[in-house]
Amino acid sequence: MTDSPAEKKKIVLSGIQPSGVFTIGNYLGAIKNWAEIQEQYDCVFMVANLHATTVRQDPAALRKNTIDGFAMLLAAGVDPKRSIVFIQSHNPHHTQLMWALNCFTQFGELSRMTQFKDKSARYADNINAGLFTYPTLMAADILLYQADLVPVGADQKQHVELARDIVNRMNGVYGNLFTLPDCLFPKAGAKIMSLADPTKKMSKSDANPKSFVAVLDPKDTVIKKFRSAVTDSGSGIYRAPGKEGIGNLMTIYSAFTGKTDEEITAEFDGKGYGDFKTAVGETVADALAPIRERFAEISADKAYLRACWESGCEAAQRLSGRTLNKVYKKVGFLP
Ligand code: TYM
Repeated sequence: MTDSPAEKKKIVLSGIQPSGVFTIGNYLGAIKNWAEIQEQYDCVFMVANLHATTVRQDPAALRKNTIDGFAMLLAAGVDPKRSIVFIQSHNPHHTQLMWALNCFTQFGELSRMTQFKDKSARYADNINAGLFTYPTLMAADILLYQADLVPVGADQKQHVELARDIVNRMNGVYGNLFTLPDCLFPKAGAKIMSLADPTKKMSKSDANPKSFVAVLDPKDTVIKKFRSAVTDSGSGIYRAPGKEGIGNLMTIYSAFTGKTDEEITAEFDGKGYGDFKTAVGETVADALAPIRERFAEISADKAYLRACWESGCEAAQRLSGRTLNKVYKKVGFLP
């Protein structure tokens, strides 16, 4: 991290829940971008394991997914020497700041969050207070590090907007407490759709494994999943209403190759959906292969992983402690 004002870089914060295997939606919407912006910004990235418990988790699976998630960030190119990488539950400042933010967030605002509405419909027997106040924990994650930018997929926009509203409200009362954060979306891939239903977002918690491609899926599985991706019964590789499945595959192909829609349409001129699906599958599988290899190497070195998250947590707490102290003082909590 740079300290001198002359070379002060913007601060970036983002996180990912260890609630399942990471998908190419997570990769393209977030992690790939994280790896690419580390040179340009001072970055803080975390495995958001506190967030994951808003739905029931098997404790052993949560521990494993947290470690795998951390290893996956490193395998995808997040560099613990350049960025701060840690595990959310290791830093108690997140829940401590959350309390102060909760008291500046309205019931009505939280009720309007689409993710809360979706998840309460999906888990109707467990609409817990954590699920409801999840966005204030996410705001605490962002505001603790005075982040300027939050690299996320499109589905997190509403949560970042709530964090901005909290900033404006609290800065209005207490002066300059927090930096006003902005979303940072990837050029392509901010919203990758399900391969089984292209009107739905691709999700790591989807019960149908054919709906998503996991970053760790072996090559033949990746190709098989793309070959069975749901598309319309027409022909031609271009975007149009009713061709959402093809449009989604074009987005994925574009995000992995950097090609524009026009280039993709020209490349597959006169070819069928089958050829296109195979080409997308092979491209994605080849791009993921080095990540899979690095993941296997890094996961095998438990001591290295532990050392990384311990030093990451120390660095994270040093930064977040400054904000927490400032907020607690302003609010009127005794030192
Ligand atoms: P999560 O774990 O659901 O997803 C992690 C990141 O992946 C992006 N993403 C997608 N992008 C494109 N297409 C998709 N189908 C897709 N699915 C997921 C998400 O937008 C996200 O960027 N609340 C967050 C985690 C979090 C966080 C934070 C993020 C906790 N604290 C602070 C930013 C800042 C979440 O549940 O992401």
